[in-house]
Amino acid sequence: MNVNKYLAEVLLTEEQIQIRVAELGSQISDDYASRSPLLLGILKGSVVFLSDLMRHISVPHEIDFLAISSYGKEARESSGAIKILKDLNESVAGKDLLIVEDIIDSGLTINYLIHLLRGRIPASLKICTLLNKPARRVTEVPLDYVGFDIEDRFVFGYGLDIDELFRNLPFVGVAKSGL
Ligand code: IMP
Ligand code: MG
Repeated sequence: MNVNKYLAEVLLTEEQIQIRVAELGSQISDDYASRSPLLLGILKGSVVFLSDLMRHISVPHEIDFLAISSYGKEARESSGAIKILKDLNESVAGKDLLIVEDIIDSGLTINYLIHLLRGRIPASLKICTLLNKPARRVTEVPLDYVGFDIEDRFVFGYGLDIDELFRNLPFVGVAKSGL
């Protein structure tokens, strides 16, 4: 499977991503200076970002993962009907939660997760996303840390998939249209 069949152009190079991830890590380290946050990675898209980001966070912290799926993915859009495939292993009550996402698009997925997790009474809840597509937002989302605002184009690589492939790419690419 050749990536060039899918790739229209490189949007964010490996170097651009690594510089920004290090900046986010040091900002998070400052903001959580006397606390030990729990980073919640949303599977599968956030794994690459989370594993790089956590190595730039200097405060002690835990990690956990939630796996979700959204119905009606055919049109490369989330429907907002979300199913939990794997819940967190530990209770989050009283913890400083930092949700780590790959991309915020319509905002429906993250809003569902915010609602779910607030119900479990954490001490605090913040959102960190590598990518943000503000033009696609259908519901307001309070984002605390954003790697890059991008235009409304379907992207893949660095954790994001195109038909489950190419999550391993070190860069973020734009998919050819009509795939
Ligand atoms: P939302 O609920 O519309 O905000 O969708 C968020 C989820 O849709 C992300 O966690 C991704 O899994 C997926 N997604 C949205 N845009 C893209 C994209 O451009 N490439 C790959 N996945 C995407
Ligand atoms: Mg995702």
